[in-house]
Amino acid sequence: MSVLTKPGLQELLADLRGYLGTEPPALSLPPAAYTAPELWELERERIFSRSWLLIAHVDQLAAPGDYVAVQIAGESVVVARANDGALHAMSPICRHRLMPLVEPGAGHTDAFTCGYHLWKYGLDGRLRGAPFMGGNKAFTPKDCRLPQFAVAEWKGFVFVNFDAAAEPIGDHLELAAPQFANFRIEEMVLVDSWSLEWRANWKVVMENAHENYHVLGLHRETLEPFMPGGSDIHVEHYSPWVLHARIPLAMPVDSETLELNEIQRTNGMVLLTFPSSAFIAFADQVVWLSFLPTAIDRVQVIGGVFTLPALAGTSEAVAQTQAAVTAMINEEDQQGLEAVQRGVSSRFAERGHLSPKEQPGVLAFYRNLAQALLGDETAGR
Ligand code: FES
Ligand SMILES: [Fe+2]
Repeated sequence: MSVLTKPGLQELLADLRGYLGTEPPALSLPPAAYTAPELWELERERIFSRSWLLIAHVDQLAAPGDYVAVQIAGESVVVARANDGALHAMSPICRHRLMPLVEPGAGHTDAFTCGYHLWKYGLDGRLRGAPFMGGNKAFTPKDCRLPQFAVAEWKGFVFVNFDAAAEPIGDHLELAAPQFANFRIEEMVLVDSWSLEWRANWKVVMENAHENYHVLGLHRETLEPFMPGGSDIHVEHYSPWVLHARIPLAMPVDSETLELNEIQRTNGMVLLTFPSSAFIAFADQVVWLSFLPTAIDRVQVIGGVFTLPALAGTSEAVAQTQAAVTAMINEEDQQGLEAVQRGVSSRFAERGHLSPKEQPGVLAFYRNLAQALLGDETAGR
């Protein structure tokens, strides 16, 4: 192909199909995969409208009335805890004349009231009041409810799926659960959290999350001494939705509070869900990240750090140092990935050869991507 001709959608899909075979090419995606609007449209339809997306931790939704709202690939979702304790994921778009009921963010309320004409919805999305609507005989208030989405909770992580009939994700996550059992994640509490915007395509961000090779360059001062970029990572591809990676640590970690096995003492234990979340457990802490695309070249990065209650707040100085280190690592990834996004837009960009150090994770991600996009063409998903 000429460097001046961009491939169309069918050519991109044909290249993606190559990752489904038993001997996938050890090559990165075609550069246009990160910039083509047609592929982004297909991703919105076939991936983000029907996959489980990590949007919060239950600490953010502890009490009735707590809610978290996010935008994902052009669609809004709010998750709220109702008075009966149940979580509801729903579309926060007013059923009257479509004004959004909440802005992205977290908050607490007893109802969602539309700012336009004051229609009011309960925490379960049911209409509670609509001024001066009695004269409209075609309107039945009791049938008016915000569209409901699927919601799932696993070890305190809250996932939503715009497809209300989606296959539950719990069984898939449970396949990886034994690897994380000793970390007692369900007991941990949030000690740091963030919401950032990175200017990069979501796949640039996710392939980075699937490899440790980039520690050599992007994190040479911060992570390289602890998690060397030249290590061979071990990958368990449990299902199309769940992948576990072990990143060897330079030195075994010791925990006074957790009984970790040898594998857990000598590796960063990573759980990745397709399409867009990751968490890593090491020693007494877990870092979680969710990469929610807001546009073809923008990702909202939400996440946080957890530790056991006995350790949280034991030392303000240690907590501040840990938060600063995590912020620095996030900053290094952001700088690097935003630079890559400028690179993939070059007319002279081509597919690159992948190192054996990055192939296990990155090719697994590409395989999931290809399966999700090619849909019914592929068997066994
Ligand atoms: S658009 Fe919400 S009350 Fe009119
Ligand atoms: Fe990184």
